[in-house]
Parts: sequence; structure tokens; C-alpha cells
Amino acid sequence: MHKPSISIFGLGYVGLTLAVGLATRGFKVTGYDIDKEKLEYIARGEPPFYEPGLGELLQKALSEKNLALTTDPIKAVVETDVTFITVGTPENPDGSADLTYLLKALEDIGRGLLLKSSWHLIVIRSTVPPGTSRRAAKLLEKYTGKVCGRDFGLCMNPEFLREGNAVEDTLYPDRIVIGEYDKRSGDVLENLYRALHGENSPPILRTSLENAELIKYANNAFLAMKVSFINMIANLCEKIPGADVEEVAKGIGMDKRIGPYFLRAGLGWGGSCFPKDLKALLHLGRQLEVRLPLVEATIEINERQPLKAVELAEKLLGDLRGKRVAILGLAFKPGTDDMRNAVSIKIIDKLLERGAYVVAYDPKAMNNARRIFGNKIEYAENAISCVMSADCVIIATEWEEFKKLEPRDLVRHMRNPIIIDGRRVFNPKTIPENIKYVAIGLGSQTEEDP
Ligand code: UDX
Repeated sequence: MHKPSISIFGLGYVGLTLAVGLATRGFKVTGYDIDKEKLEYIARGEPPFYEPGLGELLQKALSEKNLALTTDPIKAVVETDVTFITVGTPENPDGSADLTYLLKALEDIGRGLLLKSSWHLIVIRSTVPPGTSRRAAKLLEKYTGKVCGRDFGLCMNPEFLREGNAVEDTLYPDRIVIGEYDKRSGDVLENLYRALHGENSPPILRTSLENAELIKYANNAFLAMKVSFINMIANLCEKIPGADVEEVAKGIGMDKRIGPYFLRAGLGWGGSCFPKDLKALLHLGRQLEVRLPLVEATIEINERQPLKAVELAEKLLGDLRGKRVAILGLAFKPGTDDMRNAVSIKIIDKLLERGAYVVAYDPKAMNNARRIFGNKIEYAENAISCVMSADCVIIATEWEEFKKLEPRDLVRHMRNPIIIDGRRVFNPKTIPENIKYVAIGLGSQTEEDP
């Protein structure tokens, strides 16, 4: 099958994993980013962020000479057949999506298209509000005088990759959604994915640009809603002696209509996607005068959830002034060093506000934490040194290395043996009696417990 040559605009999580995935499967890929420092890292074979498995594949792609990097966006378009746009669409102060990077990419692509006589496909893979892709087609027509659907093509192709699983999700996705301006554009992109995935190609949904844009937002909103739902049930479980949200989640997850995924109760969801995409959806609802009460409730539950860790600490320790609180886990989830909208930030800010002394440890996110908190908190070298002399420990991210700790060893050098398990890393049944153990979604297990 003919493999088109590909340029990728924006080498963040989405762009770099796509670039590397395509290049290691024999496509000729040119990566472009405005950030020169980022390009230098990538050229050396070092991903600028932590993502399991990505470094090895990047080095392979570079050594096989299937991945080139450029600082010239116009050349990137002129010398390739297909351009993916994978730039960020961060949050504006009013919650709407900031399209500045996308508009800049379109301008550059337009200049490239002007120098080309052959048909070229543009694929928007960034998350964009409904209507944006059609507007992009119009802008490209304006810049070039060419006609979309005749002289060039356009698709909207949302990604669903999870940080920490980005490589796997790029190479083995559940499904591919192709929103197409016209049939030819959709055919070219479908063939590209069939060449990438071979016989193991996942189901491909071909649809309109607007549906594809909306699928991405609805997908993230539904997943976040599942998590907020189980966190709401967790709050109820805590008030019911003998109840445990883990068992409840297991039970409802066995219903095929519900499914077992995204039902892990905890201190809430964070990251680079859910928070901004749900706010963008709400903004869209406001614009179109459509109420989205489930999205509102999903966000509202999540805003309160992290602070439960602080409330529990206060309940067990009283006034937090001068208390030493250890935080295990800073990344917004395990498998990443990303701290964007991490619940740990809200927890630490609140603890500092209450006058507590905070000491923190994360297996991967320490550099990012230093950038956020500077010298406002203390940083530990490992989990055990983090909890040394602490009055309580809050587990905020469920890293595997925390699950392997024995609660007995964890509390050995603490001032008070108090564990607040915000991510359900320990089995409550195996906690020794001398440890005060409270966990999200766990009702009192003995009669004396509060
Ligand atoms: C998410 C979507 O899964 C992905 O499809 C989309 O493209 C980008 O956003 P990501 O942000 O990497 O991916 O993380 P994800 O694994 O979905 O987790 C999001 C948040 O929900 C994390 O903070 C995680 O800790 C939390 N979560 C997830 C729970 O609290 N419980 C769960 O059961 C699942």
C-alpha cells in the first residue's frame, strides 16, 4: 500500500507519539514545532516529557532516518503529502478553547499550499470546538485562493490517547474517528491508517467534521462523568458503616451496560484534557443557550473532591498549623510527570493556607513540582524519607511503587501513624490495628471508627 509522506505540526504528547508511531512503521515523517529547544531534545533522541516507551521508539525512528525535524513549516508542507495539526488548544480565561496556535499553523500551511500544485490533505487532530474545522477550511481557501475538496482536502481526526499509555494508544487504538470535508479526504486518511495498522486495523468511523469534533468532547465528558459519579458514591459510602466503594464499583462494573472502566474512586480527575475540555463544552453550551447540567455537576463534584484529603487531615489532627504533612504522589496520575491540573496542587495549596508544613515525593514529577512550589514545600528523595516524622501522609497518586509499600514500614518513622489513602492503594483488610487508616469511599470498618 502506498505510504504518503507526512508532516506533523506540534510535537507535544499527541504529535510526537504520532510522529514516532508512523515513522517506526515505515512512513517518512517530518516534525515541526515552534519551540526550538523542544526540537533539540527530540533530535537527540530525548522526548521532552516522560512517556513510557517513547524514548526507545524515538531513537529507532531517528536512526532509521524516517523522522526528520525542521524549523521551517512551509518546507514541511511543500515536501509532504499529508499534514497533521497537533498543536495545543489550551483554556482561555472564560473557559473557551484558545485557538491561537491552530490559527498560526493554518497560516503557515496556507503559505505552503500556495507553493504546491499537487493535492494535499490537512488533518486537524487537536481538540477543537464544533465548527472550527469548517472554519479552518474557509481560512485556507482565503489564504490560498484554492478550493477545499478540490485542490486540497481536510479531515478532523480526534485522538483519544492517555498520557502514560500514549504509545500503546497510538499504535493500538480502540477505534479511529474520521470527520471528513469530502469523500476523497476521508479515503486518503482511512488508507493511511489502514497502512499504519495493517491487518489489526481498529474499526473506523467516517462522519462529518462537526460530529468528529463533538465526539471528542462528549467522550472526555462521559469519562470524567463516570469518575465523578463514582466519587459521589464514594462520599456516600464513607457515611455508611461497612460500605466500601471499591466493592460497589466492582459490582456495578460487572454490568456490561456500565463496564468496569473509569470507576476508580479517588481524589478526583486532573490532567491536560478533562478539565479544559469540560470547560470548553460548558462554554459551548452557554454560547448555544443549551444547559448541560451533567457536565456542570461533573465539574462541581471534582472541585470539592481533592479538598476532602485536607478535611480528613483536619478531622484527625485538629488544627493543621505547624503539622508536618507528607504527600505521596504529585503527578495528575501514575505513569506521567505531568502535573497540569493535578489534585496534588489543590491539596498542597490548601495545606499551606492552613499553616501546615508540607513535604512531598513523586517518582517522576519532582522537577515539575519544583517549578510550581519553589521553596514553599520540602522535597523528599523517596517515599520513606518523605513520611519521616510526619503527622500524617496523604496518598494523592496511585504509583505502583506506593502499592508495593507495607503500611507497617510506611508509618514506622512517622510521628503519628495516620494514612489518608486518597487513591485506594492499600487493602483496608491488611492494615495493622495500630495504624489510623482512612480512605476515600471507605465506611467505618469497626464500630469505634468515626
Ligand atoms: C484523557 C482521556 O482518557 C483521553 O482519551 C484523552 O485523549 C485525553 O484525556 P489522560 O488525561 O491522559 O487522558 O488521563 P486518564 O487516564 O483518562 O485519566 C484522567 C484523570 O482521571 C486522571 O486524573 C485520573 O487519575 C482520573 N481517573 C481516571 C480516576 O480518578 N479514576 C478512574 O477510574 C480513571
